[in-house]
Amino acid sequence: MDHLAHGHPRTTPADGHPATEEGHPVIRVLEGIREEVADLAGGVVADYIPELAHADPEAFGIAVVSPHGRAYAVGETDRPFTIQSISKPFVYALAVEERGLDDVHAHVGAEPSGEPFNAISLDERGRPENPMINAGAIVTTSLVGPGERGVRFEHLRSVLSAFAGRELVVDEAVYRSEAETGHRNRALGYLSLAGGVLVGPVEAAVQDYFRQCALSVTVVDLAVMAATLAVGGVNPLTGERVVSQRTARHTLSIMSSCGMYDRAGEWGLRVGIPAKSGVSGGILASAPGAFGVGVFSPPLDEAGNSVRGVAALGRLSDDYDLHMLRTPAEPPSPVHSVTRSGDTLDVRLRGEIDFLAAEQVVSRLAETIDDTRVRTVTVELERVSGFSDAARALLAAELHELAEAGVDATVRDPRGVRGA
Ligand code: DON
Repeated sequence: MDHLAHGHPRTTPADGHPATEEGHPVIRVLEGIREEVADLAGGVVADYIPELAHADPEAFGIAVVSPHGRAYAVGETDRPFTIQSISKPFVYALAVEERGLDDVHAHVGAEPSGEPFNAISLDERGRPENPMINAGAIVTTSLVGPGERGVRFEHLRSVLSAFAGRELVVDEAVYRSEAETGHRNRALGYLSLAGGVLVGPVEAAVQDYFRQCALSVTVVDLAVMAATLAVGGVNPLTGERVVSQRTARHTLSIMSSCGMYDRAGEWGLRVGIPAKSGVSGGILASAPGAFGVGVFSPPLDEAGNSVRGVAALGRLSDDYDLHMLRTPAEPPSPVHSVTRSGDTLDVRLRGEIDFLAAEQVVSRLAETIDDTRVRTVTVELERVSGFSDAARALLAAELHELAEAGVDATVRDPRGVRGA
């Protein structure tokens, strides 16, 4: 226990350096949050899956993983618990990879249900409202192929393991406990079969769903899985691409609208980090382009979300400005320097050139058309780390404009970051 907090950190695979150390400023932040939420009373440990009732209500852990794969964690960082509903976004991601977004959403909706996770929720087309509630998640599991007994689950397990960066295994006691008692989930499966959206047989889909929910994880696993989504589908610890950037985005979208069940709106307002909770007390939160977070504390509120987990993430978002709709005071400038010598203008760019950055670049280049002292322009990309498709198109259009106006413009791209 506490091993990451006390000087035995995970290391980044790239450089092998410890990612955390005693007294590390990020660890202090997490310790502060732990202290603040430790005394929060309230909440009830889930017992409708009998095996979950054994959980220690005092257990608490929180972990954060950076886009560069640095992991920080405090509390009970290696205590295992079952992933439960937090498996749903990852199985959704897999279904979208295999079938495409439109096919998946022919079977399951994309609307927040405003209802509890186990609601009988079907829309006018016979589809469960969204893939984060049980009804929709069972359908999503049924869409992953091949559906044969054992084969599909092994596929699910290996993909969730790739998200976590280690082999995840099933907690057999929790699996059996839910398989023996989960008749409401079977009923939801049959309703979806009747609606023509579940790929049967129901029992096969439900069994694989129970197994995926019983995969055993730690808060650090959750943080790595969250970070993999946050950075667009590449596991920052292993470097493996698990899903496409687009699939990662779709998954974060669904998490942000539906991940916290009937608290999704309140969550968006007060925390604003795409997240998914589970009845064993875990919450996974994925701040786009920033951090992956995992929290564990078993007592749940009436919506089935961890009481201390919700409080901890609220604190983290507020104090460290992780709300996904925060607005920067000033967009970062992509222009490193502009120098003129004679009739030549040298524009050096830096960082990631996305549409927003490219708009700043082309508006600066456009000024040279009216400036009769400038006849030659060089755009230097040596310090640029990447170019989006939209940025490439915008720059190409501006170079065309410059040529039309008689300005001789060249791009120096020694590392080929602009791509094709
Ligand atoms: O299907 C169930 O009821 C559980 N295996 C998972 C539900 C769950 O985690 C809901 N989240 N808060």
